[in-house]
Amino acid sequence: MSKKGLFFTFEGGEGAGKTTLIEGLAKKLATLDFSVVKTREPGGTKLGEHIRNILLDHSATMSICPRAELSLFLASRSQHVEEVIIPALEDGKIVLCDRFTESSLAYQGGARDLGIEKIAPICSYMAHDLIPSSVFYLDIDPKIGLQRRGKLSDRIESETLAFHQKIRQAFLYLAKQHPDRIQVFDAGKSCKEIFHEAFDSIADILAAHGLPI
Ligand code: TYD
Repeated sequence: MSKKGLFFTFEGGEGAGKTTLIEGLAKKLATLDFSVVKTREPGGTKLGEHIRNILLDHSATMSICPRAELSLFLASRSQHVEEVIIPALEDGKIVLCDRFTESSLAYQGGARDLGIEKIAPICSYMAHDLIPSSVFYLDIDPKIGLQRRGKLSDRIESETLAFHQKIRQAFLYLAKQHPDRIQVFDAGKSCKEIFHEAFDSIADILAAHGLPI
């Protein structure tokens, strides 16, 4: 399987500003005539959006144990990679994805205590062994992130502060383990500053792939 495009993922705790960053980058890359696909997890496909509703429904009365939760995120990802991401990459597009494998490792592996190392091979298999060209991790103190977010509406957002702190620790651990592909951005900075830093990094990666801006 040849993949000609580039796959960038965006990770972070609640209120880190991923969505604003992705929107800004997608717009800028489009003005430079790159073909961009903007997508998200859980979701991105019809099946994924159904799974998203099950996972995030705050009013749901059914309980979801950590292993079941992981399976649902991974099912959404398998479909998303097969149906959206791989075809886009084979078409030479730049894919910007809001959350991917690192979210499962941090949330389910770290915060839900399933174990990062234990679930890593399962996550990899379910993602068709697809590894992002680069992971942009937006790091924020959860106290600030949750404040920024305001009213917490979904099932995972509404977890305790300790849970959100475990997520941050897990992301920072992953970034330390994989400095070659996970870049840490200080999400306490302004949106403008983060945008410029992330865009410069994407420009470098594009140049390294023979696509100078
Ligand atoms: P979403 O509304 O997309 O939140 P955000 O804007 O913070 O990305 O909700 C996705 C939630 O699902 C978020 O709390 C992170 C969580 N999540 C996991 O727990 N595991 C995963 O593998 C993924 C992709 C997301």
